Amino acid sequence: MRIGVYQNHSLFGQVDYNIKEAIDSISRINADLMVMPELFNTGYQFISKKELRSLAEDIPSGKTCQAMLELAQKKDMFLVFGIAEKDQGHCYNSAVVLGPQGFIGKYRKIHLFDNEKLFFDPGNSGFEVFDLGLAKIGIMICFDWWFPEAARVLALKGAQIICHPSNLVLDHCQDAMQTRSIENGVFSLTSNRIGTEARGGKSPLTFTGQSQIVDNKGRILRRMKKTETGIVLAGIDAKQAIDKKITPLNDRFKDRRPEFYQPLIRNQ
Ligand code: ACM
Repeated sequence: MRIGVYQNHSLFGQVDYNIKEAIDSISRINADLMVMPELFNTGYQFISKKELRSLAEDIPSGKTCQAMLELAQKKDMFLVFGIAEKDQGHCYNSAVVLGPQGFIGKYRKIHLFDNEKLFFDPGNSGFEVFDLGLAKIGIMICFDWWFPEAARVLALKGAQIICHPSNLVLDHCQDAMQTRSIENGVFSLTSNRIGTEARGGKSPLTFTGQSQIVDNKGRILRRMKKTETGIVLAGIDAKQAIDKKITPLNDRFKDRRPEFYQPLIRNQ
């Protein structure tokens, strides 16, 4: 299975430009699965709910999903990408999964970061796993990385590949995702953006690039630079992520002792 991550430099509010850049880039390569950044079509730093509502789209009838559906069909490829979703007066920081046969599903970001809490509704769709036939994938978005429970739940539900659309501004995520891959025995694809946004008098946000493909043993197969745009690809055998063995006598999941993990499922 050929998998990839796309790293972009979105221009805020220039949806047509951001979509065209993605289509131009992805049209040039062949892959089975491509992960794209969080909010790849709008940019990140919203300054009001009104602005967010004006750029958010319906899933899957909005223009970004429709353009990506056409691309997925043309390229015979599964795509995972982040957009602002509008649904009955609510706006979510969402990721969409679709493929050559059409729309498959979506994930609404559960752990909102900083100013996102002022504008977006927290995700309410849970951590779902989607069976693409070639592999089972799970989605988490950017700051979800800070909560190891996100990747764990996806892996326990059978995800072999974690797709991680991101607009990262904090350090350490790329390294932490190696750990998420090791402890869960899953491949992880973190797709990030580059550049800086400083809108409406807010503090500048500089995005950290370094989109990466990590294997089920936590090894970095590909990592992009902090300032480049484009795509990196890797060939993997997703079936390797079904085996959760650590040693002949240890298994990541069978050795868990959930009877001692009660604090994990209590609100503090
Ligand atoms: C983030 O969650 N976009 C930092």
